[in-house]
Amino acid sequence: MIPTQTLQRFIHSKQRQHSASTGELTDLLTAISLGVKMISRLVSTAGLKGLYGYSGVTNVQGEAQQILDQEADEILVQLLGSSGHFGSLVSEERDTVISSDQEAQLGLGRKYVVAFDPLDGSSNLGSNIPVGTIFCIFEKPNHGRKASNQDFLQSGKNIVAAGYAVYGAKTSFIYSSGDGVHGFIFDPSLGEFLLTEPELRMPERGSLYSVNEGNYHRWDKRMQRFVDTLKLTDKQAGTPYSSRYVGSLVADFDRNLKKGGVFLYPADNKNEQGKLRLLYECMPLAFIAEQAGGRAIDGQRNILDIVPQNIHERSPLIIGSKYEVDWYQSFKAD
Ligand code: AHG
Ligand code: MN
Ligand code: MN
Repeated sequence: MIPTQTLQRFIHSKQRQHSASTGELTDLLTAISLGVKMISRLVSTAGLKGLYGYSGVTNVQGEAQQILDQEADEILVQLLGSSGHFGSLVSEERDTVISSDQEAQLGLGRKYVVAFDPLDGSSNLGSNIPVGTIFCIFEKPNHGRKASNQDFLQSGKNIVAAGYAVYGAKTSFIYSSGDGVHGFIFDPSLGEFLLTEPELRMPERGSLYSVNEGNYHRWDKRMQRFVDTLKLTDKQAGTPYSSRYVGSLVADFDRNLKKGGVFLYPADNKNEQGKLRLLYECMPLAFIAEQAGGRAIDGQRNILDIVPQNIHERSPLIIGSKYEVDWYQSFKAD
């Protein structure tokens, strides 16, 4: 079948099914999808414009910002700002919560808050390996109150919608607003995302594992034993697994979502809380994984049960098919 359903029409039709829908979430998702198109263009033409490299700024994570990290952040902040529907934003690239101009002027609260990683995997820029954008949307707990960190310190169970884009050989957009996961591919000749994978399901079990194995000697024994087990030649256990890791969470997760398997970024003795950020990396992808029949844990707890204590908090992440995440969890901690 030739895909004919655009993202725009799909989002509209989904939201119309909710009697309480005010159109605000539709507008927000539309603003994000436009941002994603712009970032896709930016990523694909950056090499021609000499836009690769570092901006000279170190972000709040202590990581050197790339020029494209900054530009992608600027695009999303501007687009979401002019949508008029968010109360506040959190971006990986900004130290503090951003309050919308309108909110500041009118002193009014808005219905939603958005957290995002504008460019994920940006250390791969310049080498033609996919990078991406990750986001999640919550309701603002108190509509009337001014934006604050507190808006984001809620459990992932409250996520209203989440998704990601991958800028690779094709630009894809995957999202869920709580009733399944739906996948779209960008058609540059139309300037539209078209629905190609409605109701995406993650395989119950896969045969891939994705982890930065260079950190092996920094891991705890539990993680080492699990990865050692995946590499054993044991027909009955279905091992060895194949290793696949490109170092862009969105691309590694996207592959495992479609093919099945597990992505691991554990805590180690260098990153004691893990490396990935709870609010705009782990939680949105955990929401997508669960919606598609998979699982995500920090080792012990379901990622979506955790309430972040701060907006840039880090967390270990074990995410993927239910079988492999359960399997990891069955390994005893030391
Ligand atoms: P970001 O580019 O947004 O800072 O995220 C980078 C993350 C993630 O995309 C990836 O999975 C991980 O860093 C890779 O880390 P290692 O280089 O330590 O494997
Ligand atoms: Mn990232
Ligand atoms: Mn990033």
